[in-house]
Amino acid sequence: MDSQPLRGQKALVTGANSGIGAGIARALGAAGAAVVVNYVSKPEDAARVVDDISANGVDALAIRADVSREAEVETMFAGMEQAWGGIDILVNNAGLQRDAVFPEMSLEQWNTVLGVNLTGMFLCARAAARRMIRRGVRPEISRAAGKIICVSSVHEVIPWAGHVNYAASKGGVGMFMKSLAQELAPHRIRVNSVAPGAIMTPINREAWSTPEALAALLRLIPYGRIGLPEDIGKVAAFLASDDADYVHGQTIYVDGGMTLYPEFAHGG
Ligand code: BGC
Repeated sequence: MDSQPLRGQKALVTGANSGIGAGIARALGAAGAAVVVNYVSKPEDAARVVDDISANGVDALAIRADVSREAEVETMFAGMEQAWGGIDILVNNAGLQRDAVFPEMSLEQWNTVLGVNLTGMFLCARAAARRMIRRGVRPEISRAAGKIICVSSVHEVIPWAGHVNYAASKGGVGMFMKSLAQELAPHRIRVNSVAPGAIMTPINREAWSTPEALAALLRLIPYGRIGLPEDIGKVAAFLASDDADYVHGQTIYVDGGMTLYPEFAHGG
């Protein structure tokens, strides 16, 4: 098997300075892709991911942009195009939580989550699709004109009390991805999602940082371990590669079985 199936390809990963995004950026770099490491804060973390990727001999570049802001997204894609001539792979990863019990949820909490998790995907996918359509398929690079991968969540299908804004955004990602896949297929742009379960990252630190919390979390994961960013990175790299050339419009759950209704293992 080709150990660098993404050699010669240019990728952009949003929110790539930490957590799952950093894991995906590293995995794409290891597969041979040049990677733009997008970030919105903590440039020193983005620089570390860039260093790790370049250490493997492929190009990496950190670009700051808030994905919920159209002008910043446009400037980021223009900068990438100027540096590398185009984009082959977009990973729409940037996401956040602003949790609140529903009666207390502010409009700002709602808008921030929808703005980054859903509008951010729209703005980045649109900027990428325009460029991928313009360049078309270059068979020496890939069988597709481009690949767009959305990072969804098990909460695309698992309702989540106390996190209505977040679950609504991920439910939206499901239809966003599928409708986009249907529309972009004639352009030979492949669109898919990877939907992580509980992955050990800063976003859910509360759920794994004490033994009690971890024990409660593990009751929701039949496979019996919390996930790691590289678990998601490997699947994203596969989806971006021509090995997945016939995979289109799919959400791949990478969750240790969290979506298997684990409570029903002992009841019902
Ligand atoms: C959330 C995490 C949560 C996980 C499983 C993710 O989408 O961001 O906070 O631990 O889903 O519930």
